[in-house]
Amino acid sequence: MPYGRITGWATNLPDRILTNDDLAQMVDTSDEWITTRTGVKTRHIDGKVTEMSTSAALDAMAMAGVSPDQIDLLLLATTSPDQQIPASASVIQHSLGLTCGAFDLNAACSGFVYGLVTAMQFIQGGMERILVIGSDSLSSITNWEDRGTCILFGDGAGAFVVENSGEQPSLLGWDLMSDGEAADLLYCEHGDKIVMDGQAVFRKAVLAMEAAALTAMDKANVVSDEIKLVVPHQANIRIIEAALKRLDIPMEKAAVVLSSTGNTSAASIPLAFVDAVNNDRVEPGDLVLLVGFGAGMTSAAAVVRWDPPKT
Ligand code: ACO
Repeated sequence: MPYGRITGWATNLPDRILTNDDLAQMVDTSDEWITTRTGVKTRHIDGKVTEMSTSAALDAMAMAGVSPDQIDLLLLATTSPDQQIPASASVIQHSLGLTCGAFDLNAACSGFVYGLVTAMQFIQGGMERILVIGSDSLSSITNWEDRGTCILFGDGAGAFVVENSGEQPSLLGWDLMSDGEAADLLYCEHGDKIVMDGQAVFRKAVLAMEAAALTAMDKANVVSDEIKLVVPHQANIRIIEAALKRLDIPMEKAAVVLSSTGNTSAASIPLAFVDAVNNDRVEPGDLVLLVGFGAGMTSAAAVVRWDPPKT
């Protein structure tokens, strides 16, 4: 049975940084309000999905030691592609010199987990190497006059190479869910900016993350005590705290980067995951729980056994 495992990873953030004090010059807010209500201090903006993704992907492929002709599929999770047509995945594919299929996947902030789970199925279906990217440029669809939303969002990208290990499974359990009844809580019309009912999203997000995580852990046949690291969607520190409390998982186990990134949608989980890996927070064999929620409302979770290539 072919099984996928992660063999390369990298991230990219655009250069321009916007601080809470910068935002206080633009709308009626303050560093104190944003910090206590969200945990965000700074965010990177003005990124292009195709550029951030290409940069992260090149680094992830170099790490995995994979050449462009060896990639069988490029899967881009994004909710803010550079253009409506063509898919940003096709532009990135060309920039990287890949000769394979490429498509965009839109599950908003749950997109990276949707992408990782999808990649694992293609590996089981016979592919050898897949590039999974989560990237968003929320700054391009943010209403910079709406203090209820503009304080939250930022841009970024994370890329992972998933390869057939042929050994043991690294994806132990997963859950993908969508509650389309809540679609009007967070949306963006063509050519327009994000509209959000923040309080309603908050309440649903906590419950959706709990449900997705419990389902994924149940399928993986593990309990929360066995999880070494939780990588939650980086939307709001209070959402993460509330969800982990319900899951009975201490905050010390959480990977959190949102103070310097804001909510980067599909890039948020890879940004936090790579930060934790680079800071030696996981060792081979450790169980990692990825859990996200987003517009849709979508939610997704995956239990992954960390199984990096031996160096
Ligand atoms: N600065 C100062 N005051 C503000 C700001 C601000 N930036 N924004 C709102 N306020 C005010 C409100 O007007 C309100 O004032 P009032 O009491 O006089 O009416 C007061 O602060 C409280 O507002 P709430 O909306 O109740 O504040 P809350 O604590 O809920 O925080 C927030 C708002 C941060 C948006 C929160 O609801 C949240 O994080 N929601 C989840 C959003 C989210 O995760 N979205 C991403 C989904 S993922 C995706 O797909 C992109």
